Amino acid sequence: MSETNDTAGSQEPREDGTPRERVVGTPSPAADSALLAKEEYPAPAGAGEELDERSAKRAERVVASLFLLAFAASVGFIVYFIGWSGRDGGMHGIHRARESNLWLGGLMALSFMAMAIGVTIWVRRLMSSKPIVQERHELEATPEDRAAFSAAFMEGAADSGITKRPLLRRTLLLAAAPLGLAPLVLLRDLGPLPEKRLRHTYWGEAVKAAKEKGRTGVRLVVDGTNKPLKVSDFASPGAMITVLPEGIEENAHHALNEIAKAVTILINVPADQFKPAKGRENWHVNGIVAYSKICTHVGCPAALYEQTTHHILCPCHQSTFDATDAAKVVFGPAARPLPQLPLSVEDGYLVATADFPEPIGPSFWERG
Ligand code: FES
Repeated sequence: MSETNDTAGSQEPREDGTPRERVVGTPSPAADSALLAKEEYPAPAGAGEELDERSAKRAERVVASLFLLAFAASVGFIVYFIGWSGRDGGMHGIHRARESNLWLGGLMALSFMAMAIGVTIWVRRLMSSKPIVQERHELEATPEDRAAFSAAFMEGAADSGITKRPLLRRTLLLAAAPLGLAPLVLLRDLGPLPEKRLRHTYWGEAVKAAKEKGRTGVRLVVDGTNKPLKVSDFASPGAMITVLPEGIEENAHHALNEIAKAVTILINVPADQFKPAKGRENWHVNGIVAYSKICTHVGCPAALYEQTTHHILCPCHQSTFDATDAAKVVFGPAARPLPQLPLSVEDGYLVATADFPEPIGPSFWERG
């Protein structure tokens, strides 16, 4: 019995010099070499003391209340998502998107916040604090290992002749230098720079050609039928149609690329709701306005139009533009309005009198 106690409690070697086995539950011999020895890292005041039961009960009630609040906010999130946001066209309708985001985001934030505060109070008020020391073995190499490494390194260097043969050393460095530049060269694989190609569309070229023939501008043709559009054909307020410059398919180089850039939406905005932008008062014909169809966020087609609000909607990330007000952004991640195409009328046909005044599509670093 006495031998068992002696073995468990003592770290000293036996009398014959053999080390003692460590008994589970006894302090580790590594404690002596711990990075943070106990004396250097004293337990904070109060550690291990009995907690005051009254204040512990009070803290417990506060924590439980916060958890209940988190529960209620999470349930509110689910109820709102399933129920209320389904009304009036659903949460993805542009009327309710802002309200839905506000409620869903607010409830989720409230839930996380209440839970986080509750857990913090629980840890700080109801748990005892004590230092925890992670024991680590010595990481430093022994002086013998360091000396052996140094000797091997110097021997290898001397053997290779790199110190004695500067010609070899320098040409080796020269050969390795371009490899460091290789990743920069690979950047070219990201594709060609857009340069000036996004600044202009086929509208500008077609308008120029039409003006050289003494005409006011280039006619708008309906995408799909290529039929020139008369003002009288597009007289109903609230209508939207996709148009292209006349002759683009026959005359443009790389016609598909040019069509992709020139694609334009034509909208008939009721005259009493139309707010022409300053300097663009004559860019519309009786409320008929033309905007680039390419979303200024990342270039999806802004192809949805809501007649009651006159909002143009991009389905990719919900950017919304106001057709009555120079296609300004009213919602979503797009940063710029859709570029507007100046319109006029010639022989009863709708014509464009110039190219878009700014680059179409997403922003890019060369936009300037
Ligand atoms: S591409 Fe239109 S909103 Fe993103």
